[in-house]
Amino acid sequence: MRIAIAGLGNVGAATLRLLRAHADLLKVRGQEITVVAVSARTKEKDRPCDLTGLAWEDDPLALAARNDIDVVVELIGGAEGVAHDLVRASLTNGKHVVTANKALIAAHGVDLAKNAEEAGLNLSFEAAVCGGIPVLKTLREGMAANRLSSVRGILNGTCNYILTRMGDEGMDFATALAEAQQQGYAEADPTADIDGGDTANKLAILSALSFGLAPDLESIFVEGIRPITPSDLSDAAARGGRIKLLGIATHGEQGLVQRVQPVFVPLSEPLARVGGAFNGIEIEGDFVGTVFLQGQGAGGNATASSVVADLLAIAHNHHSFAFGVAAKSLA
Ligand code: HSE
Repeated sequence: MRIAIAGLGNVGAATLRLLRAHADLLKVRGQEITVVAVSARTKEKDRPCDLTGLAWEDDPLALAARNDIDVVVELIGGAEGVAHDLVRASLTNGKHVVTANKALIAAHGVDLAKNAEEAGLNLSFEAAVCGGIPVLKTLREGMAANRLSSVRGILNGTCNYILTRMGDEGMDFATALAEAQQQGYAEADPTADIDGGDTANKLAILSALSFGLAPDLESIFVEGIRPITPSDLSDAAARGGRIKLLGIATHGEQGLVQRVQPVFVPLSEPLARVGGAFNGIEIEGDFVGTVFLQGQGAGGNATASSVVADLLAIAHNHHSFAFGVAAKSLA
């Protein structure tokens, strides 16, 4: 399987490293995955990955036009602009797409999934939600027999890192954010993390897969972590809990209710004990009960793990609806 990668930031570089490091393993588990071409904003730059032997395209859209590529991996980011153009052009040109772009999928995922389905292609975005945690696969496959009533979780590694460092170490907000940026957890514009927009994008995607409804960002109440002070965190600790930025979606008699906000979580709940850049998600199904997933929600290596899992699924000819149901049936 021949692939191209657009975007060589933390996730792109880690994806290249993983594909090289585990080439033999991936071949045994699915198929040889060969990176043919890459594209990024700047060619001459020190990167923690080896580009030897790879074709370089200055214009990412050129990747969609190449006839030696089966899958385009979009790791540029952003709901609009070049990322959107690249994904659309790739599907139009008969290429499967793997992306980590939650803003794009939350805003345009249904249209893109329709394009993919009409063309018999995969549009895969496990890496868009909760980094290395296979939550979309869990929803789409493992819990597919259940009617789900709620999804609730820590969906942003940067905010969880900041709240953990402020609460446990007494670190100030700016220093904790700078650390999160240094470790490659934060978005290019960290206001997307801090003000809850990134969590909202992920929640909209989780709701779509959980309840068969089109992602609807407009209907999500969103509050970020800026107002949280060190004394809020120490008060929470004194009351036997932690403050966590949660994305919460419930689906019941009132329809779908979605919100993103800092919430007091008692230590008796597993979510309270999810620290640092880790994410945790609690899903309620009617037959299975509660399922809890935890893992690294941000960072190059963990996110690359999900990108490459999506590539392997394509290599296996595993066709699944992007949102678990046919895109045209999403209300
Ligand atoms: N900025 C995101 C986070 C990256 O901190 O969770 C992973 O989506």
